[in-house]
Amino acid sequence: MIKKGFIFDLDGVIVDTAKYHFLAWKKLANSIGIDFTEHQNEQLKGVSRIESLKKILKWGDITLSEEDFNRLMADKNTNYLSYIAKMDESEILPDVIKVMQFLIDKKQPMALGSASKNSIEILNKVNLFNQFDAIVDGNAVTKAKPDPEVFLKAAEAIQIKPENCIVFEDSVAGIQAANKANMISIGIGESSVLNEADVVFRDFTEMSLDFLEKLLTTRKSQLKEK
Ligand code: BG6
Ligand code: MG
Repeated sequence: MIKKGFIFDLDGVIVDTAKYHFLAWKKLANSIGIDFTEHQNEQLKGVSRIESLKKILKWGDITLSEEDFNRLMADKNTNYLSYIAKMDESEILPDVIKVMQFLIDKKQPMALGSASKNSIEILNKVNLFNQFDAIVDGNAVTKAKPDPEVFLKAAEAIQIKPENCIVFEDSVAGIQAANKANMISIGIGESSVLNEADVVFRDFTEMSLDFLEKLLTTRKSQLKEK
């Protein structure tokens, strides 16, 4: 059997930090007089901190000095970190551990592929840091998702060819990045939103061990249904 590489996004896939990002961005946007909807939030998922703020300012048609821009980014992160500070293992999303245990039993390498610069702190909080063979996050990349850089670096770090990698992602940008990297893209969330993914599950509780088993032997082109 060919060894596969499994790459997990962090926010919204392993832990529900997407809700904390939403709260922190909403607070920031509202503080500068910009409305912030769930639909806009969807467009920020998977997107780096700097690109997210650029998008928000564009929606509000606001231009800031570099100094103010940097201050707002720092404020957002301080606010976000205050939510993270209270996190523990109970915030690991349902059946993430089931999937990880399956992969450990099958001796399949696992990597993190996240845009976040806070990934190590979060993984430590929820006690998952040691589960990964490699961690590639926002500190290691120069190009934000939908650029495939983060996933290509993760594949390289675990020494698995991109076409033998499988990505779990909750964001549109991340699914696009996985597809550009020629990896199997598994959407975790709404199929209407993640319609570019090869397969979508609402969450990991819907993903059977049979499906995981199938991933070990299936190519992207063959993967059309669960
Ligand atoms: C992604 C999130 O994983 O990381 C985005 O989906 C977030 O919402 C991005 O903006 C950057 O995260 P951080 O923790 O470095 O601000
Ligand atoms: Mg995510």
